[in-house]
Amino acid sequence: MIDAKEYLKKMSAELDGPIKSYIGNEEPENLMEASRQYPYRGGKRMRPAMAVACCGAVGGDKSKAVPLAVAVEYIHNFTLVHDDLMDGDEARRGMPTIHVTYGMPTAVLAGDALFAKAFQIICDLDVPADSMRKALRYVSKAVWDLARGQQMDVNNEGRIVSEEVYLETIKLKTSVLFAAAAAGGAIVGGADDRTAEAIHDYAIETGLGFQIFDDYLGIMGDPAKTGKSNCNDIRKGKCTVMVTHTIQALERDPAKLEEFKSILGKMDATEEECARAKQIMIDAGSIDYAMDMANEKVNAAIDAISFLPESEDKEFMIALAKYAIDREV
Ligand code: IPE
Ligand code: IPE
Ligand code: MG
Ligand code: MG
Repeated sequence: MIDAKEYLKKMSAELDGPIKSYIGNEEPENLMEASRQYPYRGGKRMRPAMAVACCGAVGGDKSKAVPLAVAVEYIHNFTLVHDDLMDGDEARRGMPTIHVTYGMPTAVLAGDALFAKAFQIICDLDVPADSMRKALRYVSKAVWDLARGQQMDVNNEGRIVSEEVYLETIKLKTSVLFAAAAAGGAIVGGADDRTAEAIHDYAIETGLGFQIFDDYLGIMGDPAKTGKSNCNDIRKGKCTVMVTHTIQALERDPAKLEEFKSILGKMDATEEECARAKQIMIDAGSIDYAMDMANEKVNAAIDAISFLPESEDKEFMIALAKYAIDREV
């Protein structure tokens, strides 16, 4: 059995060089510096690792997927820069966010710059024109969908939305980029359209599990490990599947429901109040419910690629899907 965390470390060591090679010393210096921050800071590198593995799993030359992997990581980092600004978050990967250090205008531009660089990098792919077009279609569609998903996420703040709306939101804001990495990697590896689509499905499901678990970490995680606050989502009234479930579960306990709602979305909620809201969610069975759902998604992801021939890359794809919902960071 592959240890996904160890394997990711090994792959990060191989990908870090390429990831750090694309931002030169152009002017203005502060924009270059701000743009370098997140890609250089590290992170789990799940998306680029997925792109490379999917290329290998279909029998492709993995080195050819590296520019795509880097591009997807740049897009991921661009969305994080803008997301942190939108969410008003002050820490990412244990350090200050870009807008905190460089100010809002530079954060907007650093995100834009990373976004543009990603597409420049894709232009360097050493693949036939048809594969290039397909990879571009996956990636550009993902960024479009991501913007829709992020807007839905913002629209959902402070509101109680249905589980269906929550799942559509996380599919758009999170899964689609995993899916572009995976399907793009498969295309670069020479996969036919049906294989690429199945791998796309694998990544969509993995991404859903990943985000459900991420929302869990957002309230139950250890800030010392995640590098992010575990009260912000409660204070902002973020409507996750755990929240929807709690609201439903408390239908017959109006007093507790009122108490829960009075904390959710309270920007100045104390640590104690946040802890109380978390306890209510645990007691309502909502954490278990979310974990079961995350598990279902990961099982569906693994099922989607059962047809692929056995290989180390396929094994890693399976391990990565499981790791998406079993991590501390
Ligand atoms: C964080 O993604 C943003 C979400 C989509 C929830 P990751 O957890 O993959 O972030 P890094 O790259 O490892 O820091
Ligand atoms: C992360 O979303 C950004 C994208 C999915 C594009 P969140 O706002 O839910 O995640 P964190 O907590 O900032 O990483
Ligand atoms: Mg955020
Ligand atoms: Mg956000």
